[in-house]
This record gives sequence, structure tokens and C-alpha cells, in this order.
Amino acid sequence: MVTRPAAPNTKPTKAQIALFDSVKKQGTKTTCFFNNKGGVGKTTLVANLAAELALSFKAKVLVVDADPQCNLTQYVLAEELTDEIYSSENPNSIFSVIRPLSLGKGYESELPIIASPEFGFDIIIGDPRLALQEDLLAGDWRDAKGGGMRGIRTTFVFAELVKRAKELKYDFVFFDMGPSLGAINRAVLLAMDFFVVPMSIDVFSLWAIRNIGVTVTVWQKELETGCRLAEDPSEILELSPKGRIAFLGYVTQQHKERTGYDEEVSDDTGEPVKIKRRVRAYESIGATFPQKVNESLGTMFANPQMESHLGDIRHLGSLAPMSQSQHVPMISVKGTGSYTKLRKQARELYRGIAEKYLQNLDSNKS
Ligand SMILES: Nc1ncnc2c1ncn2[C@@H]1O[C@H](COP(=O)(O)OP(=O)(O)OP(=O)(O)O)[C@@H](O)[C@H]1O
Ligand SMILES: [Mg+2]
Repeated sequence: MVTRPAAPNTKPTKAQIALFDSVKKQGTKTTCFFNNKGGVGKTTLVANLAAELALSFKAKVLVVDADPQCNLTQYVLAEELTDEIYSSENPNSIFSVIRPLSLGKGYESELPIIASPEFGFDIIIGDPRLALQEDLLAGDWRDAKGGGMRGIRTTFVFAELVKRAKELKYDFVFFDMGPSLGAINRAVLLAMDFFVVPMSIDVFSLWAIRNIGVTVTVWQKELETGCRLAEDPSEILELSPKGRIAFLGYVTQQHKERTGYDEEVSDDTGEPVKIKRRVRAYESIGATFPQKVNESLGTMFANPQMESHLGDIRHLGSLAPMSQSQHVPMISVKGTGSYTKLRKQARELYRGIAEKYLQNLDSNKS
């Protein structure tokens, strides 16, 4: 009997579904995708992993664009819709959710949610005006560290958004963030259950891992001190997310297309075959990652035994820009020929990352 190769639209296995069901039972999980290094594939991962969970696992997913660059929003929404929304004076976005709070006016009652049928998830769109909040949040952080209630309230601005999402019974809430260690990202991180670090394999990522480990630890300690000194501890209990943020894993990204070819012997036929050249530096740096991640983020692991490497995203050539211009996830890009193969590779990639992501979440249950 001839075994057919798996079709790109194959369903998750029974074991994967059982894993998802087990995670779903534990309620809403919030995760941000964070690296202060830019261009490491954060936005692409958020959109495609969220789409995989929503379209293949039928998960209810809310994705929040907390990057003032709004790349995620532009990826997900059709151009005409983006133009229409952002031509208005006051687009209904993440800014509308947090702005009233920063003015001391409480919270907006409803979340501005837009459904994306193509990606299968809901989105709260980004806003360039979010960048204007950096200074305000930075000032309020000084107040929060000293126990000031105004500062603590604004520091937990995204926690309130998450609370609303939990009431709406989302399985997953994902936050895409800009590449910085600034005040907005701090407020996002302090409101999350988990963070995932997407990174490219180069020496700068080794620095980024170290920075992230130190920074997140310091932020959490400072906030804890602020909460201890708080003027009104009962309000803090209401505001603060449960427990500390935990590290759920990292995803590596082969961000450069490999050039040139090496000859190797095929495992299947024993014949010499041409394969794309491996970049030696890439492999030697990549090999040090598990240890570096353990050193810098070990105390924050969601589970000490978990496999923290969630996957390695290969360069998928023109599938990435095609999915951006078609405003669909990579697995749904229209096109024949080489796209058939690339779509299948994308499916396998994001399915694999989704499985490890779910495993680590499941291993964290108390
Ligand atoms: N698997 C992939 N194959 C090919 N290109 C990719 C892949 N993943 C991402 N890219 C491309 O790499 C670029 C950077 O990706 P992305 O915007 O996701 O990074 P980012 O970390 O979110 O950047 P920023 O720090 O600016 O927010 C994009 O142009 C994207 O199309
Ligand atoms: Mg981005």
C-alpha cells in the first residue's frame, strides 16, 4: 500500500486534541511574545501560532497588538479596512482601552474586538498613539515602586484588559509587543501568566536572553515591594494577576536564507544529494542556547523539567511576504507549485510549536 504524504490541512492527532482539552479546562492562559531585539519574528509567530490554535484546535483566541508599529494589525486586517479604521480621528483600538485609565477615568466598559475569519482569532488592534503612553507609564512606575495607588493602577492597566478577556472565556490571550524594554512592555509583562521568547540565532540573542532574565526579575521584585508598601492593599488584590510571570519557552528563527549548496548522502537512497549550505556559526551559537537560557531564565521556568525550545522556524522564502500581502496565515496562502510544499512545511512547523506550547502549559498546572 502506498502511504500518502500528510495533506497540509491534516487535523491534529487524538493525543494533541487531548492535550489541548486538558489545557482548555484550566481556563484562560495569557502569553506575551517578547524580545527586546527587533526583527526576530515575534509578530509572525504570534499571528501564525494563534491561527494554528484557532483554526486547527478550534481554540477561542484573542490577540492584542501592543506594538505602536501596528505590524500585527496590518498583517491581519485587509488594507481597505486598515485604511478606513486609521483614517478616523479616534480609532477604536488598544489605546481606547487604556487611555481612560491613564486620565484617571476608570476603564472602557467594552473591549474593541474585531474578528478575523481568515486567522480564526479575534484581535484588539494596535495604535501608534500607544507610544505616547511610554512617558506616562514610566512616571507612574516610579510612583508604583513606592506603593502609590495611582502608579500601581496604571502599571496594571493591561491586567484589567486581561480580566475582561477572561470573563469572555478566551482559551488564549496573546500579546505582540514592540522590541524594547520600555514602560509599555513592562506593563504588558507584569499582567501576563507566561512569556515566550522568539529569537534569531546570533550573538545578539545571547545578550538579549541575559537582558530579559535580569530585567523581568528586577521588575517583578520592584512591583512586589510597591505592592507591599501600597496605601490600599485590598485594591491590589483585585488588580494584580495571580502569581508571577513564568517563562514558557523560546523559538529560534533562521532569519536568513541559506545560500550555496553542500553535497550530502541521502538517508533514503544512499545517493549524493545537494542540500542548502549550513551556516557554521549558526550551528555553534545555537548549540549554546539551551545552557544560556537555563542560566538566565532557569528560575522562571513554568516547569523545571519542561523542554524550553519550542521549535526552530526555518526560512519559508516568499511564503512569509505572500501571507502578509494576502492577509492570511502562512498555512492558508493561495498559490500552487512551490507554495504547496511551503504551506505543508508551515503547517508542520506551527503544529509542532503549538504542541510543545500546550505541553509546557499543561506541565505548569497546579
Ligand atoms: N519563517 C519565515 N520565513 C521567511 N521570512 C520570515 C519568517 N518569519 C518572519 N519572516 C520575515 O521576517 C521579518 C521580521 O519578522 P517579524 O515582523 O515577525 O519580526 P518582529 O520580531 O515582530 O519585528 P519587530 O521587532 O519589528 O516587531 C518580516 O518581514 C517577516 O515577513
Ligand atoms: Mg513585530
